[in-house]
Amino acid sequence: MIKETDFLVIGSGIAGLSFALKVAEFGKVIIVSKTNLEESNTKYAQGGIAAVTYKPDNFEKHIKDTLIAGDGFCNKEIVEMVIKEAPKQIEQLINWGVSFDQNKLGKYDLGKEGGHSENRVLHHKDNTGEEIQLSLVEKIRNHKNIEILENHFAVDLITQHHLGKLVKRSHNNTECYGAYILDLNTDKVDTFLSKITLIATGGTGNLYETTTNPKIATGDGIAMVYRAKGIIENMEFIQFHPTSLYNPGEKPSFLITEALRGFGAILKTTSGEEFMHKYDERKSLAPRDIVARAIDNEMKITGDDHVILDCSHLDSNDLKEHFPNIYEKCLSLNIDITKDPIPVIPAAHYTCGGIKVDENGASTINYLYAIGEASSTGLHGANRLASNSLSEAIVYANRAAKDSAKRINQIKIHTEIPEWDSQGTTYPEEMIMITQNYKEVQQIMSNYVGIVRSNLRLERALKRLEIIYKETEELYEKSILSQKLCELRNLINVGYLIIKMAKDLHESRGLHYTIDYPKKGTISEF
Ligand code: FAD
Ligand code: SIN
Repeated sequence: MIKETDFLVIGSGIAGLSFALKVAEFGKVIIVSKTNLEESNTKYAQGGIAAVTYKPDNFEKHIKDTLIAGDGFCNKEIVEMVIKEAPKQIEQLINWGVSFDQNKLGKYDLGKEGGHSENRVLHHKDNTGEEIQLSLVEKIRNHKNIEILENHFAVDLITQHHLGKLVKRSHNNTECYGAYILDLNTDKVDTFLSKITLIATGGTGNLYETTTNPKIATGDGIAMVYRAKGIIENMEFIQFHPTSLYNPGEKPSFLITEALRGFGAILKTTSGEEFMHKYDERKSLAPRDIVARAIDNEMKITGDDHVILDCSHLDSNDLKEHFPNIYEKCLSLNIDITKDPIPVIPAAHYTCGGIKVDENGASTINYLYAIGEASSTGLHGANRLASNSLSEAIVYANRAAKDSAKRINQIKIHTEIPEWDSQGTTYPEEMIMITQNYKEVQQIMSNYVGIVRSNLRLERALKRLEIIYKETEELYEKSILSQKLCELRNLINVGYLIIKMAKDLHESRGLHYTIDYPKKGTISEF
């Protein structure tokens, strides 16, 4: 089947949905989402969305905090742009029906998280993401110019390559004409032709055994753009959230928001000793890279499987009122957070790098935009400041929408694209070939490419991944496609990019720490 549209939006988190709502007044929009519209990383966001909304906070302070967290690797112009444009886009979210908590004076109840010098995180209890996701989905489902295709999995982008032309990363003249999409209801790959294509497919948490990300986060968009010869950057900067609930076997790992530390909770070893003062003067509220490494180190010293987060000194009613979901979740595991310590460990959480884009979210492939966690804008540098990603997503949704809407009438649909060729393929004989390789990739990345790295570990990871890559490509060539097989292939592509970029960075900076080059180099902001 062939479908045509003005805007093809791949992904239904905050980035894809906000973009779709904005461009729908300029043309026909199709949104594809690989499960249902509601499922995304966005839905699980807890802490909130960072923006300057009151005095004595100001743009300069938020900019400074972002640059410090990014460890000298942010693009300062982009940081300034996003932080200054965020408040207006938050108003837009509110106009779309999103509600943020207010205090008795009718002012926003602002939370604080690691690396922030002021309280500036707007939130909805401890389930801000769900509030945003469900409000946007409701708007989208009622929009007459937006067609929604759930259980549709984007497999690959369509470029001149599919017209038999040579496409090279270095040529910088690739054009995107749409995407091949696997309809998970029929197992058929359909051709979607579009004037503008948007990648809003989120991050890659599932490359690791322990992650806060739901199952959908498998780096599909980043892998697709890489295969289509777009530029991917900064993939070595994978953010581990310091505090996910230690509950072996639970996937995804339940997040214990950093806002809880902003509220006064303290990190301790299992024997009740505070330790963060040994690593940073900001203690439990230091930026995430520092806290995650400190916890990793303490766990190595003590041999324990986790550390603890102590809230027992905090007012129990306030605690329950501000963090009702965390309270209920822990109680379901017989942990009363008003009295008992919460066992926590770091978990893969956020992909700072991704598809290289300009200030409007345009990728290095013409007619292709990328926004949200899948993109690399220059905002986060080597380590994202907490709660800056939701702000980044809405600012870029607005910019990409404006930029692409201006061009839409000049772009033509390429109708001569061949349909997907599945001749000679069969269903894989044994799914175990896929599930076993999926687990192996996660083990390799967790054990060799985690919080602390070394040349030897990265080298070993690359060799092991190459074997799995060859096996999976062989299987891919002869198989009728399935979501699991495509996701495995994407994870391998993205894992390769992380290892390769980590190997090439001969210093320790932000989230990339290697024992072979423990010091920071001389690269400064660009
Ligand atoms: P997502 O919200 O992840 O959406 C991606 C979408 O793409 C999904 O709909 C998915 O199904 C779809 N998709 C993926 N691949 C395909 C494919 N091949 N075909 C079709 N569809 C596809 N950030 C903050 O700023 N503040 C917070 O408080 C915060 N808390 C967080 C808590 C948790 C537990 C997690 C996991 C993240 C948190 N983050 C937070 C990060 C933030 O939630 C994400 O970075 C952000 O929501 C990403 O939005 P997105 O739209 O780019 O991607
Ligand atoms: C959290 O609530 O701790 C997560 C915030 C974020 O990832 O930005």
